[in-house]
Amino acid sequence: MTDQENWQENVKPTEIFVNGKRINSDISCRLTLAEFLRETLGLTGTKVDCNRGECGSCTVLLDGDPVYACTVLAVEASGRQVMTIEGLTGGTRPHLIHEVFFKEFGPGCGYCMPGIIMSTKALLEKNPTPSVYDVIKALDGNLCRRCGSDPCIIEAALAVCEKFARIEAR
Ligand code: FES
Ligand code: FES
Repeated sequence: MTDQENWQENVKPTEIFVNGKRINSDISCRLTLAEFLRETLGLTGTKVDCNRGECGSCTVLLDGDPVYACTVLAVEASGRQVMTIEGLTGGTRPHLIHEVFFKEFGPGCGYCMPGIIMSTKALLEKNPTPSVYDVIKALDGNLCRRCGSDPCIIEAALAVCEKFARIEAR
């Protein structure tokens, strides 16, 4: 077997916590976190568009921080907490962030939306009352690559943050 074949075959017993659930699996060292979530666990809410760390469609939270799941190896998430769009509410009903985005967001296919929602979630976890600048900065790694609706996304994200700020103020 060549070195490359050895590398491709190389699997590592790995424990990852996905949406609060412990997952033990022998994972190929070349599998990205996005591939592991979508293909091994069937969590297809995480979208893959550019697959090279440019668009943010695949954004998930790793120990609370937004990361591009297409640029992280699944084995790198060993022992860590991963949250995907499915983990936002446990899959039972839309989260408030979903609801406001769907209400406020204009036309578009929605493919970029799970990543944008996860980046917004990460922002609000750390800063429940972000400024406009904070929102723009938090979403600057997320592109509406297929539909080009980036301005609508920022407006929708601002509406989400305003809603959360009102809740916080109560
Ligand atoms: S699919 Fe991962 S950054 Fe575009
Ligand atoms: S709405 Fe289609 S990619 Fe953003």
